[in-house]
Amino acid sequence: MTDLVYLDNASTTFPKPDCVYDVMASFYRENGVSPGRSGSDLAVAAGMMIDETRRILHKLFNNPDSDHKRLIFTSSATEATNLAIKGIACQGDHFITTEVEHNSILRPLYMLKQEGLIDYDIVPMNPETGMIDPIDIENAIKPETKMILVNHGSNVIGTIQPAEEIGQICKKHNVLYLLDASQTAGVIPVDMQKLNADIVVFAGHKSLFGPCGTGGLAVGPDVPIRSTKWGGTGIKSALRYHPDDFPQRLETGTPNILGISGLNAGVKWVLEQGIENIHNQEMKLIAQLIDGIENLEGLTLHCPGIGHDHLPVLSIAVENITPQELTTRLDVDYNVTCRSGLQCAPYLHDRIGTSPNGTLRFGVGPFNTSDHIDSAITALTNIIEEAHQRAAGAGSA
Ligand SMILES: Cc1ncc(COP(=O)(O)O)c(C=O)c1O
Repeated sequence: MTDLVYLDNASTTFPKPDCVYDVMASFYRENGVSPGRSGSDLAVAAGMMIDETRRILHKLFNNPDSDHKRLIFTSSATEATNLAIKGIACQGDHFITTEVEHNSILRPLYMLKQEGLIDYDIVPMNPETGMIDPIDIENAIKPETKMILVNHGSNVIGTIQPAEEIGQICKKHNVLYLLDASQTAGVIPVDMQKLNADIVVFAGHKSLFGPCGTGGLAVGPDVPIRSTKWGGTGIKSALRYHPDDFPQRLETGTPNILGISGLNAGVKWVLEQGIENIHNQEMKLIAQLIDGIENLEGLTLHCPGIGHDHLPVLSIAVENITPQELTTRLDVDYNVTCRSGLQCAPYLHDRIGTSPNGTLRFGVGPFNTSDHIDSAITALTNIIEEAHQRAAGAGSA
């Protein structure tokens, strides 16, 4: 079997930098205890590691609040959006989101609407540009609008939304602004002050190089967010009620110190390499991939406005073969791993005309090489040629 070519980095990055595996193994072996629950040296060291990770991420997102404890760890970006939406929604609130969104935002909104708590509107995406028009967002604002939720960078077509302009609109209308930076954190700057974002949601296991099971949210000042999970926090144990303090307001139970230690190492690695350097290298590989496949017969590229201001994500669809069959063949016959389907973004696929099968998505990461891309191009070329021959044979039979 040929060497693995992993091109599913938009789902989760793999491999992680060596330091992530090393730190996780040694930290958990030497300090794997519950932080904040005792004054032992081990518990203090575990608590300090978590605190340091909060500080690094708080700074990375340039949160205008001086309190780094408003950086909250969760098990995923999905858990973070759930905390934010359920912690903010009140009876009769209106939310605005977009067709670019992932189900991690769409489903909580849908479920709360089903329960009769809130209402929401979904702003269309222009299929030619892959962009949301901020004017459409502004036009959707009502007196009851509480929050606008936007996917910063598309996990399907890689476009980056005009997050700063949308932030200005939120500020003008005094509406909360949640940015889903699951795909952008660690790839391009995500600056809460510049973008005027009140909440940034991130996936620790993607381009911040933490392990699976890590994510979180950065909560800006004056965000009226309630706790939605209650229980042990290690502080104020005599209180009947769950404490209001950050981070305990939104974090309950013994934290994932193994995962957070890996995330700590991953984010430090990203900062050492430089976000811009990683992104440039990945975009070169995306350009190489496009070059190698764009003229294949029956292949449609879904990468509107591809250029530097784009994520290292590329979707394609091919005549005579489903994305599902393509990924299976790539995996089984060529050891090339990528992702097919709707990628949890059903409205976007409806808009670009790729429902119900979706697309085949490539997600490039920093450990991919030019040889990986060449292997993927060769594999794809062979599979597509065979699919066309098969279709021609079936047609003439
Ligand atoms: C844009 C976007 N939002 C949210 C998520 C959900 O991330 P997680 O799997 O960490 O919940 C993803 C994951 O693919 C994503 O791409």
